[in-house]
Amino acid sequence: MTTSPRTEPARTSPVPGPGLGELPDRDLDRGELVDLVRRVGDRPELWRPHVAFDDEERHYVCLHRDAHLDLWVLCWTPANDTGWHDHDTSSGAVAVVDGSLLEQSLAVGSPDLSRRVDAGNAFDFGPDRIHRMSGLAAGSVSIHAYSPPLWRLGQYAVDASGALRRTSVSYAEELRPIEEPAAS
Ligand SMILES: [Fe+2]
Repeated sequence: MTTSPRTEPARTSPVPGPGLGELPDRDLDRGELVDLVRRVGDRPELWRPHVAFDDEERHYVCLHRDAHLDLWVLCWTPANDTGWHDHDTSSGAVAVVDGSLLEQSLAVGSPDLSRRVDAGNAFDFGPDRIHRMSGLAAGSVSIHAYSPPLWRLGQYAVDASGALRRTSVSYAEELRPIEEPAAS
């Protein structure tokens, strides 16, 4: 989920693969991604040392990145909110390992498509998902995997005219609700 801050290299330094098991030399499907985030979540020695929390800039660290996959640990406070976004061409999976998160799917003509995801649960999604994630509990932690690895993401906001607009951003930028885009 997708996201490193504006961007200090230390936070995106990949950790070499040991402990991740055999990774296929091809893009992973959604079943493989959700299996991977569950397995990594069950290995806290891989991610626990990177956990830290920040209300202002969501804290996250890239654990692994190769031609087919990137793997992240994300840390959440209730102040952290990605805003609406998509993952361009990537599929993804998220395992919540501490606390709880809120995942909202962008709905048109439906009042609410949100769900609480508590520690011990995981979900996956395709490139067609437009969603928004935020922390529900202080000290929440999640493991995210994307394949192909994130490169660009789309961020969404409603402009002054009421039109929904997409802004393409780098995966290296922290996702957060964006300022109201100018109407065009
Ligand atoms: Fe996401």
